[in-house]
Amino acid sequence: SAQPTTSEYLAGRRVVVTAGGTREAIDPVRFIGNRSSGKQGYAVAREAARRGAQVTLISTVDTPAPEGCDLVPVESAEQLREAVLSAGGDVIVMAAAVADFRPATPAASKIKKGYGADDPDAPVIELVRNPDILADLVAARGGERTPYIVGFAAETGDADGDVLTHAREKLARKGCDLLVANEVGDGVTFGQDDSTVYLLRPGTDEVVTVGPASKDDIAAAIWDITRVGLSRRI
Ligand code: CTP
Ligand code: CA
Repeated sequence: SAQPTTSEYLAGRRVVVTAGGTREAIDPVRFIGNRSSGKQGYAVAREAARRGAQVTLISTVDTPAPEGCDLVPVESAEQLREAVLSAGGDVIVMAAAVADFRPATPAASKIKKGYGADDPDAPVIELVRNPDILADLVAARGGERTPYIVGFAAETGDADGDVLTHAREKLARKGCDLLVANEVGDGVTFGQDDSTVYLLRPGTDEVVTVGPASKDDIAAAIWDITRVGLSRRI
């Protein structure tokens, strides 16, 4: 990909990227998590820094930030929400796999198995919905703070439609400026090095297909298309 240059459109812009899967506490030693590796988010952050942006990487993953990026470590969706809402990005990329639900009341101490014959039941963990951070970011826009917002969609096709059908619906529902949709399931994408993504924008049926490509090349494609979107708005 291109050499870093200060004449790039991202020079001086504040870019906020979220990466990794959130961890939702069950008790002090256990959590509900997901298979997101955070690699795509890291690649997006790295490429933004290469293009001259001031990058904040909000991450659940125990991996050092790429050169030139500030790292904000978080675990849960609630922590990630606080961090991203206060980060103040001109461009916000929600690459994190945010848990849709969390345990309603994490136990204050480690849940014990129970050894008695009269104690055979497994615990039931009640879940509650997490806030939809991407939707909150879109709702908070307006006035002088109108960040360009990029969402991700990990989709499997199902009886209701294929990956692109679900992605189009998600773009409409979320109201973001760009949706990066990829197909997941059975070892596809999560943790893999090459994948295919579809870039969808509001107001056009045109879909840009990228791949099979490395996460670095996908990151470059995301910043290329974001450049067009940003320049149209200014
Ligand atoms: N997202 C978010 N907050 C949540 C859930 C998701 O900000 N509580 C963001 C993700 O970071 C991603 C986008 O929303 O950028 C889409 O996530 P996805 O899980 O694909 O969509 P959902 O709206 O959660 O729908 P579903 O899981 O039912 O497909
Ligand atoms: Ca979800």
